[in-house]
Amino acid sequence: MNYRHAFHAGNFADVLKHAVLARILDYLSRKDAGYRVIDSHAGIGLYDLAAEEALKTGEWQGGVGRIQAARLSPALTDWLAPWLTALRAVNGGDDFLLYPGSPAIATALGRLQDRYHFNELHPQDFASLSALYAGDRRVRVGSEDGYVTVRAQLPPHERRGLVIVDPPFEEAGEFDRMLRAVHDARKRFATGCLMIWYPIKDIAAVDTFLKGASEAGYPRLIAIEQWVREPGGDGPLAGAGVLIANPPFTLADETEAILPELTRLLGEDEEAGARVLRLAEDV
Ligand SMILES: C[S@@+](CC[C@H](N)C(=O)[O-])C[C@H]1O[C@@H](n2cnc3c(N)ncnc32)[C@H](O)[C@@H]1O
Repeated sequence: MNYRHAFHAGNFADVLKHAVLARILDYLSRKDAGYRVIDSHAGIGLYDLAAEEALKTGEWQGGVGRIQAARLSPALTDWLAPWLTALRAVNGGDDFLLYPGSPAIATALGRLQDRYHFNELHPQDFASLSALYAGDRRVRVGSEDGYVTVRAQLPPHERRGLVIVDPPFEEAGEFDRMLRAVHDARKRFATGCLMIWYPIKDIAAVDTFLKGASEAGYPRLIAIEQWVREPGGDGPLAGAGVLIANPPFTLADETEAILPELTRLLGEDEEAGARVLRLAEDV
């Protein structure tokens, strides 16, 4: 296990993933009933953008750094609002020195009645995550294989909520394991929202994954993809996507509307682009 998210936190792929995550949580919070967030590959929760790892790659400068420096249109400001709320909450203001990962975004936007199961396999990262949430009674932290978590924690007691699967893609077969997780989640928590992150490197593998996911039987299934250079090949990550089962009803349309501006902000050359794929009928 060599992957450490501290080197990548706040990069272009995190911006899209986390902004979408925050929007989903915002929708879930519109009903008073509590929900549960199950995050199978959670990382350490909160990242210091001045830490050695972040300084070494500087990746955040091409992601959250660009957003912070930009003049955003009212439409993009509105779309990013839940994520920006989480960023402001962990930083105590507009100076973003800390970057919230998926757990910290979830808990920053959560309420007393919501519950969290965060799982992280790396022993050191598990220790950091556990320390971050030591005083938060809403949170349980586990340290097993993330795909075991997806099976073991579903369905959640609340019968409402979100499952996040965000693996490091260090070992072969990740797309196959993710596809099994899609089918497991559909079987155990058919009405729940599921969000899975994937890199756009091996384009044929992405196509096979999305096709397999669309056969799981979710009535509403979308994918949101963005690439900052031409994707594909073995170089640094150029593109990424999130697959979302049972997304909020308006997510596809409202995201499609702001993607051109987000791509202008995050793109590195004229090959940059983005799209929303509607993979099931009912979206
Ligand atoms: C991409 S990072 C997660 C980032 C986090 N979801 C976020 O958005 O802030 C992937 C994490 O998965 C952890 N990991 C690697 N293999 C795992 C496994 N089999 N089960 C659970 N976690 C694993 C890594 O240590 C790493 O922290």
